[in-house]
Amino acid sequence: MTTTLTSEPVAGLLRRLYEDARRSGEDFNRRMSELSASERAAMEHDSRAYYAAARTLYLAVSPETGRLLYTLVRARRARAVVEFGTSFGVSAISMAAALRDNPKPAAAADGREPGLPRLIGSEYEPSKAEAARASLAEAGLGDLVEVRVGDALETLAPDTLPAPVDLLFLDGAKDRYLDVLKLVEPALAPDALIVADNASRAPALLDHLRSSRDFLPVGGVQRDVEIALRSV
Ligand SMILES: C[S@@+](CC[C@H](N)C(=O)[O-])C[C@H]1O[C@@H](n2cnc3c(N)ncnc32)[C@H](O)[C@@H]1O
Repeated sequence: MTTTLTSEPVAGLLRRLYEDARRSGEDFNRRMSELSASERAAMEHDSRAYYAAARTLYLAVSPETGRLLYTLVRARRARAVVEFGTSFGVSAISMAAALRDNPKPAAAADGREPGLPRLIGSEYEPSKAEAARASLAEAGLGDLVEVRVGDALETLAPDTLPAPVDLLFLDGAKDRYLDVLKLVEPALAPDALIVADNASRAPALLDHLRSSRDFLPVGGVQRDVEIALRSV
């Protein structure tokens, strides 16, 4: 099967990004091992400080989770995707490749052609956002993605999103997953998908998804991914 995700230039770019990610991870671990125990403990309790120190670190989804995201965006025929936590753009590339491959919807009754599908990303660190944009451009996907710099709780306000949002991917600070879901919720399609990586580290989100009548959650996918179908 030919897909944008598995063809050049995306496939080779992702291989290179994963190799960079491995190298930067080794470098980060060496720097962390040089910190005192109290410096490390302080960072563990302050996610903003942690992500600032980790500005060279990819923390990317696994290749399998990238393929899962691609599949969900394709299967949902998504036109609008929002990402909390873009980092260097590995997951954004996977989802934007799916937006590129989705069939174009029919023109509206008045003959107007549909606009391009959109992925809105969010990233604290300007240098990461800049690198993500460069990689997306190299992948030939830059026209589909906007990476917003700053705290996602400010940059993902629902009235600034291309509603209805078909899929929300949560991969930023784990203690903010539920806040971001609640922020974006007014812009979500009634049957949107919520996908959360490292979901076991976001117990407030899991409690909400599993106790709310508005979501049908599926846990334990691809190690620690939670997928929930919104159904309102
Ligand atoms: C796990 S990484 C994201 C990896 C990315 N999804 C990928 O697969 O390539 C988390 C990123 O979220 C960013 N982040 C965390 N909390 C954030 C917030 N409140 N607003 C914006 N970015 C945030 C961090 O700076 C970090 O780069």
